[in-house]
Amino acid sequence: MKMLLIYCILSFIHLSTSSPTASPLCNNGVKVAVPYMTSDVKEVEDKSFDYIIVGGGACGCALASTLSEKFSVLVIERGGSPYNNPTVFERTKFGYPLVESNKHNSVAQEFISLDGVVNYRGRVLGGSTAINSGFYSRASSEFVKKMGWDEKMVKQAYEWVETKVVFKPNDLSPWQSVVLNGLLEAGVLPFNGYSLEHIKGTKLSGTIFDVLGKRHTAADLLGGGNPNNIVVLLNATVSKVFFNHHGDQPRARGVKFIESEYNTKKSYKVYLKKPNNNSTSSTGEVILTAGALSSPQLLMLSGIGPSDHLQKFNISVLANVKGVGERMQDNPAISLLVDSKPKSRIPDTPQVTGITEDYKVILESIIVPVTKNLTRVSIAGKFAFPVSTGKLELKNKDPRDNPLVRFNYLSSDEDMEICVKIHELVMQVSMSDSVSIYLGNERSRFEKLGKEESKEYCKKNVSTFYHYHGGCVVGEVVDKDYRVYGIKGLRVMDGSTLVETPGTNPMATLMMLGRYQGLKIVGERMGSSSR
Ligand SMILES: Cc1cc2nc3c(=O)[nH]c(=O)nc-3n(C[C@H](O)[C@H](O)[C@H](O)COP(=O)(O)OP(=O)(O)OC[C@H]3O[C@@H](n4cnc5c(N)ncnc54)[C@H](O)[C@@H]3O)c2cc1C
Ligand SMILES: *[C@@H]1O[C@H](CO)[C@@H](O)[C@H](O)[C@H]1NC(C)=O
Ligand SMILES: *[C@@H]1O[C@H](CO)[C@@H](O)[C@H](O)[C@H]1NC(C)=O
Ligand SMILES: *[C@@H]1O[C@H](CO)[C@@H](O)[C@H](O)[C@H]1NC(C)=O
Ligand SMILES: *[C@@H]1O[C@H](CO)[C@@H](O)[C@H](O)[C@H]1NC(C)=O
Ligand SMILES: *[C@@H]1O[C@H](CO)[C@@H](O)[C@H](O)[C@H]1NC(C)=O
Ligand SMILES: *[C@@H]1O[C@H](CO)[C@@H](O)[C@H](O)[C@H]1NC(C)=O
Repeated sequence: MKMLLIYCILSFIHLSTSSPTASPLCNNGVKVAVPYMTSDVKEVEDKSFDYIIVGGGACGCALASTLSEKFSVLVIERGGSPYNNPTVFERTKFGYPLVESNKHNSVAQEFISLDGVVNYRGRVLGGSTAINSGFYSRASSEFVKKMGWDEKMVKQAYEWVETKVVFKPNDLSPWQSVVLNGLLEAGVLPFNGYSLEHIKGTKLSGTIFDVLGKRHTAADLLGGGNPNNIVVLLNATVSKVFFNHHGDQPRARGVKFIESEYNTKKSYKVYLKKPNNNSTSSTGEVILTAGALSSPQLLMLSGIGPSDHLQKFNISVLANVKGVGERMQDNPAISLLVDSKPKSRIPDTPQVTGITEDYKVILESIIVPVTKNLTRVSIAGKFAFPVSTGKLELKNKDPRDNPLVRFNYLSSDEDMEICVKIHELVMQVSMSDSVSIYLGNERSRFEKLGKEESKEYCKKNVSTFYHYHGGCVVGEVVDKDYRVYGIKGLRVMDGSTLVETPGTNPMATLMMLGRYQGLKIVGERMGSSSR
């Protein structure tokens, strides 16, 4: 893992620079290459590109960067730039975007599932990697095999990501050291030291915060290919994909978008390049990388989804794909506030994790803001492979609004059994000597609950680890190459395609997926044009 610590000697170059070329930018002291970025819709309107990437998040940035090595790429992102926003960059401000969220333009957008659980997603270039806890861990090789991916290529794709945005924590924060000891006391063994692999026991993992405590979002990946081949349109929300209808199957032709904030009634169009001669049979593609909420929503707004549901909104049906919006999942979490009351501690991100119960339970801890100046200390456990699934539906036709989503947390007995286990384990760590000594009088007291009480507790207090996924899963909405069934020139590639999370936290695997599939697309097209 290479540290990207080239200190900034160049003065800050404004994003509004008028020349449409990539420029180096100071990410708070670290120099990163960034492509041309603009919020001026007129600069993009009616132009054409080889690839249109909808959503500049974890998967989208890695994919755009990789495709730019050979092709022209447009990234359309509904939010603004993450650069020079302290609540995005500073590890000590972790969690503030969540308490400062608003309906229309904050970098974190709140959504409350129909189950009643409060949740968030990124609305900024870098996507949820700009607001998340930054914990980086690869998927197990078992997961990689199950997905049918090439293990060697997967490893190389992880490494590509890691040289750009992943760091080994130099020192554990005092609280993370306490949690480490608490996990070992609770018997989450062996201790594996530092490792990026998903292995049983307690370990330290990678982080996207560098040794100076500065966050490196997925946006830092954009410069990894040929940034001169990428244009990033910021503050623009895609409202639908449009198609050509001659031939046996519809083919994506471009996308419609609106400004995210001003004059949202007016929409603009941008197109895929047409092949200008017959030497290559393939044309470019629209690729939705808008995350597990927006990708299924955008397919529906484009007429791809369950026909009865689309008809309720007078959306003309292009393809009756019943799986769109199905198999929504969020990993249930139980999180205990281990300090007795809010205090102005410095927020803390997870560096340590406990992986136990046959990989089904993942324990982590954070210090998280609850208001603009107060934090709580939380120890939480996630259930990695729940069986309960839910559903996503449109609420209206506004692409800026959250769709309706229900996850049906713990609706199966199996899931409930595991939740009781997680509750017990989190209690054990919370009551460990190490945690007790550190918090002293300020620690919460917990009563040990019986099994039925614990189930009740799970029902009432289930929360999220923010690893929601599904809605366009592989095998039901997209094929193994992430192409939407029955449609040409359209793929989906992000958390919505996952049938399950990779056990551990998903960001690493979603960035890897963008790189991995991007290389496959480049390889296939270069292969077909030289035939
Ligand atoms: C609070 C929080 C903490 C987390 N902590 C961790 C962690 O520590 N480790 C970890 O591995 N994972 C963590 N995660 C999960 C991880 O960040 C996500 O799983 C991952 O970022 C999802 O990637 P994605 O590519 O599917 O979507 P995203 O990264 O969310 O990207 C989607 C992008 O599409 C844009 N978009 C959406 N709709 C449109 C539209 N219509 N037009 C244009 N643009 C659009 C969005 O603004 C966004 O930039 C956390 C998530 C949250 C919310
Ligand atoms: C983009 O939107 C964000 C959030 O509203 C705003 O802070 C930023 O100024 C906008 N950028 C431009 C160039 O309009
Ligand atoms: C036609 O395609 C070939 C192969 O991709 C390319 O080298 C050539 O420049 C193209 N011609 C035009 C006019 O674009
Ligand atoms: C390209 O190929 C199509 C179908 O194979 C054919 O109809 C068309 O005439 C060709 N165009 C040129 C410019 O060769
Ligand atoms: C759909 O169209 C019908 C008939 O024009 C109209 O009555 C109805 O309100 C429309 N529904 C929506 C959700 O737009
Ligand atoms: C926190 O913020 C509130 C409201 O803004 C203010 O009344 C209070 O004094 C602040 N507390 C601290 C410890 O800064
Ligand atoms: C659990 O849920 C109950 C009932 O809704 C609530 O009173 C309690 O504060 C919750 N406990 C925690 C730790 O969130």
